Amino acid sequence: MNFDLTEDHIMMRKMVRDFAEKECGPGAEERDEKEEFSMDIWKKCGELGFAGVTFPEEYGGVGADYISYAITVEELSRVDASVGVTISAHASLCANPINMFGTEAQKKKYLVPLATGEKLGAFGLTEPMAGSDASGTRTTAVRDGDYYILNGSKCFITNAYYADTYVVTAQMDKSKGNRGIAAFIVEKGMPGFSFGKKEKKMGIRSSATYELVFEDVRIPAENLLGQEGQGFKIAMQTLDYGRIGIASQALGIAQGAYEQAMNYTKERVQFGKAISEFQNTQFKLADMATQIEAARLLVYQAGYLASQHKPVGKAAAMAKLFASETAMAVTTMGVQLHGGYGYTREYPAERMMRDAKITEIYEGTSEVQRMVIAANILK
Ligand code: CAA
Repeated sequence: MNFDLTEDHIMMRKMVRDFAEKECGPGAEERDEKEEFSMDIWKKCGELGFAGVTFPEEYGGVGADYISYAITVEELSRVDASVGVTISAHASLCANPINMFGTEAQKKKYLVPLATGEKLGAFGLTEPMAGSDASGTRTTAVRDGDYYILNGSKCFITNAYYADTYVVTAQMDKSKGNRGIAAFIVEKGMPGFSFGKKEKKMGIRSSATYELVFEDVRIPAENLLGQEGQGFKIAMQTLDYGRIGIASQALGIAQGAYEQAMNYTKERVQFGKAISEFQNTQFKLADMATQIEAARLLVYQAGYLASQHKPVGKAAAMAKLFASETAMAVTTMGVQLHGGYGYTREYPAERMMRDAKITEIYEGTSEVQRMVIAANILK
């Protein structure tokens, strides 16, 4: 067993860290305050290859492995978790299902501009009545000659409004349950496709989250992804890989919060000495470091399995469950170590705590991760 990162991984970490600190760090508080998505940062991420880390070079990607991808999302999230999830939702949830299930024509038309970062992607699975129960989708698709007619709505969609390409699930035959669901590639600007309300969120406030509304949207039949009835399995396999991205995001938030707390406790003087000299602080920092290291091993293991094309469902769910609970615990300790200042917006500690919470919820709550893990270990 070799735990060393390769030269490529180390270079990747350095490049992404430099970018995150220079380009994402300075405006992070302001974007959070204004709930403002940055098209500029997204464009720069595309230029540097972050939009297509794992995709084959022939389709515009970088052709790197999933550990490189995990490092990318981790390093962005260490500074600004909203940028981290923009890349994760784009790559894992939109470009990846097209890469895994798309036809050659779909890959040329949609994957290439997604992988190069020319276009931004999003994933429409969740609905008001179909959250954890993803098979309960009420959006419908009806075949009409060379088209499918899409009606319904989706909610909590990351990157929506700004994204150009959407992978969307819809029910074609309710009597078949999850086997009646199909997945489609939908383009922004298709007549009848519009955006509903923008969500006002607790954290990741500069990541865009909107509703999608479909009113008799005519989707060309060639935009069916996979086969009719395969949509639920496409969504589940997409999420298997997607959860590596969210686990990486959680890991990055935890790492960032830990470093902030470490720096603060070395500078903050109380009772005549830096508070890092008190055992209470040292034990907290030791716990934070240990939990982060354990999370990192699970996240990179899931990345390793994905790169080896081995089953990732269980490993990704374990990584997401542990890393997101670590992010919540570490950011909470981070705020505590900052004392009263940690509760103000003067320091990033409170933003990181707010950002951490969503990692226990989206792409499957911690409860859903436990369901996935249990199903895997009991079968
Ligand atoms: N890969 C392939 N097939 C899978 C699968 C997987 N990982 N998981 C399930 N399946 C198949 C099963 O084999 C089964 O197939 P058959 O019908 O042929 O037997 C079928 O799918 C149904 O499986 P289940 O009975 O296990 O499905 P379920 O209805 O009980 O649901 C669940 C299981 C794990 C709870 C699932 O619904 C789930 O993951 N829910 C959470 C959804 C989620 O993560 N939503 C997040 C939205 S995206 C998001 O958050 C984006 C963002 O903003 C960043």
